Parts: sequence; C-alpha cells; structure tokens
Amino acid sequence: MKIGVLGAGQLGRMMAISGYPLNHQFGFSGNSNDEPSALLGHMFALEDNADNIESLVVFADVITYESENTDVEIVREINKNVPVYPGEKSLFITQHRGREKALFDQLNIPCAPYQMVNSLTDLERAVAKIGLPAILKTATEGYDGKGQFLMRSKDQIKEAFESMNGVESILEGFVNFKRELSLIAVRGTDNDHKYYPLVENTHHNGILRLTIAPAQNIDVDVQKTAEHYMQTLLDEMDHVGVLTIELFETENGLVVNEMAPRVHNSGHWSIEGANTSQFENHIRAITGMPLGDTSLTHNFSAMVNIIGKIGPTQIPLTMPNANLHLYDKDGRANRKLGHINITADSLADLEKSIEQLKDFLPN
Ligand SMILES: Nc1ncnc2c1ncn2[C@@H]1O[C@H](COP(=O)(O)OP(=O)(O)O)[C@@H](O)[C@H]1O
Ligand SMILES: [Mg+2]
Repeated sequence: MKIGVLGAGQLGRMMAISGYPLNHQFGFSGNSNDEPSALLGHMFALEDNADNIESLVVFADVITYESENTDVEIVREINKNVPVYPGEKSLFITQHRGREKALFDQLNIPCAPYQMVNSLTDLERAVAKIGLPAILKTATEGYDGKGQFLMRSKDQIKEAFESMNGVESILEGFVNFKRELSLIAVRGTDNDHKYYPLVENTHHNGILRLTIAPAQNIDVDVQKTAEHYMQTLLDEMDHVGVLTIELFETENGLVVNEMAPRVHNSGHWSIEGANTSQFENHIRAITGMPLGDTSLTHNFSAMVNIIGKIGPTQIPLTMPNANLHLYDKDGRANRKLGHINITADSLADLEKSIEQLKDFLPN
C-alpha cells in the first residue's frame, strides 16, 4: 500500500524503514526537504507548496501521523477520502491534557488530581484544591518537559501563571513516583490487540535518556493492570495503530501520566529487541495486516538516546550486541539525533553494555 505520513521526522523515517520489506511505499508531508524522512519516500514539502498536503492525500491509500499535535480539522477532511489511523477521536483526546485526564477519570484509570487553569484566579483556586508541590502544564503542545512549571510554594503562583503565556493550562498534583514506566500496545482494524512488556524510562531535564525492557521486578499483576488500562483506552477510542501510555509506579500502584497516539521514543528498543518492532506493528495495523509477535528477541534490551551531539559512535559500532540508529539530523542542544539499542541475555551483560555507552548518558 501507499502510506502517507503527516510529518517527516525520525518516527516517519523508522516507520518507512520497517515498512519497505512489507512492500509498502511512503510519502511524507513536512516543513522542508531536509527532514529525517525526506530521502525515504516521496516528499511533499509544505515549505515549497502549501497544497502539497492534498498531493500527499492523492498519493496515499492510508494516512497516519507522527505527532499528537496534528490538526484535527485536517484529519477530519482527509478522512472523507482516505482513512486516517489512528482516527480523529484518538487524536482529539490525546492532544489535550485535560481531555485525556477526563477520559482516564471516566474509565476509572488512576491519574494525578488536576484542575484546568485559564486565569490567575483559576490557578489560585486550583492550588488551594490540589496543594503543593504541583506541576502547571500547557494543555496542548508540550513535549520533552517543555511548557511546564514545577510549583513548590504559593509565592510562585504569579510566576507560574505568567510562564504559560496566556494559553490554557492544567495544574496536576505532584506524583511521588518510584519509577517511570511506559506501556506500548497496538490494535489492528480487526480489533486484535498486542502488548509489549512494561519498560522503565529514565529522564534527564525532561528528556528521555534510557529505556530498559522489560522493566525489572514487575509483578505479573502490574503488567496485567497496565494492559487492562490500555485495552480500555484502545477500545474506548476505537484506536487503530500503536498507542503509548506513560505511567508512574508508586507505593500505591500505577498512576497514568499521559498517552500518545503513536510510536514512542520508549519503544525504539523494539527494533532489535522485539520480534516485531513498534514501527512494523504500527504499519501492519494501519494497513490491515496481521499484527506481529511482541515478545523480546533476547531476555533484555535497552535504548540509549543520542541527544544534542552525536558522540563516539565507534563504541556502539564495535559492540556485538549494539545497534546504532541515526536520524540524519544536525547537532543542536537537547535535540534527539539518534539512539543505540542493546540486546543482552543477562542483566549483568545489559548493565555492562550500558556502562560502555556512558559517554552518551548524562551523569
Ligand atoms: N504530575 C506529575 N508528578 C510528578 N512528575 C511529573 C508529573 N507530570 C510530569 N512529571 C515529570 O515530568 C516529565 C514530563 O512530563 P509529561 O507530562 O510526560 O510531559 P511531556 O509531554 O513533556 O512528556 C515526566 O516524564 C515526569 O518525569
Ligand atoms: Mg511524557
């Protein structure tokens, strides 16, 4: 099939790399011909011609997107001619933190207490209700910890409010978590569901740096609970494709943080670490192919992000159990330029390999 991707970043790039062996073709709409996906398919650059999105729709048998910030109106229009997966409902809910939290509440999925904030008075009331510490976040558009203000004292109310620059925001109670986990799953057009194991994520300055798969010391019950939340959300949104849920592991069980209607940085390990990667399973789902097995290829896998500058790539290139993935991007502070995947049969080997890659990790 011909797959059209709204966006042309590294996620589209990796979708294409996984989709070509299945005989699919790719087209991308992005801002410029320099983007990470541009050489992997037909590029319909909006910078050259704003109508290129229509040419992409003419090209495509099915459309998907790279970002939850995709315009819902555009997706609704496209869907009149060509199916878009994940559908409008998934996109509408996941692009707004308030709608997302309201759905969690409706489905009895535990999440942090929250209040929507549109004015300074709203924020004062929200702080009185939720207490501190709490995090004020923009309702839409945030990523990698951007658009957030951690409030520790009431003196910060004005400063926090002003940092939102007048956009709708949400105050969330601070969750005292032991670890951050995520669950990735995929649902096909035939309602088949497949789940990857819970993985453990370590962030630094709001940016994911390390994922370990599977997360260690997870009870079968905890995996089952996370899968139950996931299944409930997939079915409620009639989701087709990959869905990711970020979770906090706390003393009192799992608390859901947020979700993304797409392949996710915390699933990049699955390229070599799982029998079918998140990218291939997303492509299979949206093209109506049977979903692939999500088990690990080895007992353990890890992913180390390459952030800001490329670094000493000869290290992973000479490790037998490491795979380097670069996105064809120029170095810039805090930018995701690539990642390194590791597979291992023992935890000791995994830890040793991560240690070998310490130059890529923050202290
Ligand atoms: N309510 C919360 N309590 C504690 N930590 C939080 C909370 N919300 C976010 N964080 C921290 O901030 C990070 C980024 O927040 P998140 O809501 O996931 O936004 P983003 O869209 O930037 O990923 C999380 O991975 C977590 O480390
Ligand atoms: Mg997040």
